[in-house]
Amino acid sequence: MGSKIAIIGTGYVGLTTGACLSHLGHTVVCADVVPEKVESLSRGEVPILEAGLDDLVHDGIAKGLLSFVLGAEHAVGDAEFIFLCLPTPQGADGAADLSFIKAAATDIGPHLQPNSVVINKSTVPVGSAGEVEKKLGRDDVFVVSNPEFLREGTAVTDFLNPDRVVIGSTDEAAAKRVAQLYVELPGETLITDPASAETIKYASNAFLATKISFVNAMAAVCEEVGADVSDVVKGMGLDQRIGNRFLIPGPGWGGSCFPKDSHALVRIAENSGYQFGLLRQVIAVNEEQFGRVANKITRFAGGTLEGKTIAVWGLTFKAATDDLRDSPALNIINRLLEVGASIHAYDPAVPDNSDARLTGIDVFTDPYEAVAGADVLAVLTEWPEFKELSFERVAEVIGTKAVVDARNLLDRDGIKDLGFEYDGIGRS
Ligand code: UGA
Repeated sequence: MGSKIAIIGTGYVGLTTGACLSHLGHTVVCADVVPEKVESLSRGEVPILEAGLDDLVHDGIAKGLLSFVLGAEHAVGDAEFIFLCLPTPQGADGAADLSFIKAAATDIGPHLQPNSVVINKSTVPVGSAGEVEKKLGRDDVFVVSNPEFLREGTAVTDFLNPDRVVIGSTDEAAAKRVAQLYVELPGETLITDPASAETIKYASNAFLATKISFVNAMAAVCEEVGADVSDVVKGMGLDQRIGNRFLIPGPGWGGSCFPKDSHALVRIAENSGYQFGLLRQVIAVNEEQFGRVANKITRFAGGTLEGKTIAVWGLTFKAATDDLRDSPALNIINRLLEVGASIHAYDPAVPDNSDARLTGIDVFTDPYEAVAGADVLAVLTEWPEFKELSFERVAEVIGTKAVVDARNLLDRDGIKDLGFEYDGIGRS
C-alpha cells in the first residue's frame, strides 16, 4: 500500500517528485503559495515544459492520488512524509538563501503528525537539516536529507530511473522508511548522515560543472593547436575511467542549479576555512566562455557590433526546457546588446519577449524570419530541430553568410559548401 505524502512547493522539483510518487502508488498532496498555480494544477494544467510530466499529473489526478492545495499547513495534516521542495536562491554573498525553507518549516511544525518524516529535497547548505529541525519545533518528528539529481527536460525519466537515491539521517529507521518510498526504482540506495547527503549534492553538481569547464578550456586549446575537440572528447570518453558524458563543449554552463550551487559551495568551503580555488577557477572559465562566444560573433560581424543585427537560435539554458534562468544564451546576448547590436531571436519554447529577461530582444516565431538580413547567425542552444532547418533557405535571407555554432550542432561541412563562414567551439 502507498504512503501519505505532502510536497511543499510545486516548482520543477516539487511537481516532478509529487507526480512521480503518485505514479508509484502513493497518495500525494502538493502545496503552493500561489492561488492561480494551485487552481490550474488542480485542473491538470502543468505550467512548465517537462517531458512526460503532463501525463503523470493527469493520471495522478484521475486516480485520486494527486491533489493540490493552497498553503503548506493544509497539506501536512495526514502526511507520513513531507518533502520540502522550495527554492534556495543565491543570496547577495553567494551563499544559498534558506528563508523559504525556514518559513515553510515554521508554518508546518504545529500541524505535523507525530513520527512523520520531513525530507529536505532542495539543495541546502550542510547543516540545514538541523536548521529545519529547530524551525519545526518538534521532538517527535524526523528530519532527513534526500537530495534530488533531476535534470530539467528529463526530470521524470531521471526520477523513475535514478543512478542512486541518497538519504541522510541520524535515525536509521527513519532513513529506511524514506528508502521504502523508492523501493520499486532501480539504482543504488546510499544511507548516510545528513551532512554527507547534503555535501553529495553540491559535490556532484560542482564536479559536473568542472567537467564542462574542463572541456570548454580544452576546446580553446584545440582552436590554437588545430585539433578538433569532437574527436578529442571521443578519444577521452573511450577511457572508461573518464566516460563520455557531460563532456560536450558549448557556450558555458547555466540554468537554475550549476551557477547557484557552485557559488554556494565556494562559500560553504570558505566559511569552513578552505579556499576552493579549483571551483573558483571552474566558475571563472565559464564566465570566460561566455566572452569567447561573444568575441567569435563580434569577429564575424567585422570587429564591431554597433548597428549590426545578430540572429540567435536558442534562448533557453539548454534544449527540451522553456527555462531561461541563468541561460548562457542570455548572458552572451546581453554582452552583444551592451555594445550596440540588435538581436533577432528564435527559440521553439519561447513564443515572445514578454519575460522580463528578454527585454531588448526581438523574438520571432519563425527561425528564417529571425535570420533575415542578419550579419551573423549564432546557435546558442542545442535544440535538435535546428539541425533539420534548411541552410539553403538561410543563405537566401541572411545578410552575411556567417554562423557561430556554439553547440557544435550543425552540419559544418554542408554549411561551408554553401559558402558560409563557420566557427564552432574547439573546431572551425
Ligand atoms: C543539473 C544536474 O545535471 C542535475 O543532476 C541536478 O539535479 C540539477 O542540476 C539540480 O541541481 O537540480 P540541470 O540544471 O537541469 O541539471 O541541467 P544540466 O543538464 O545539468 O545542464 C546544465 C548546463 O550545462 C546547461 O547549460 C547545459 O547546456 C550545460 N552542459 C551540460 C554542457 O554545456 N555540456 C554538457 O556536456 C552537459
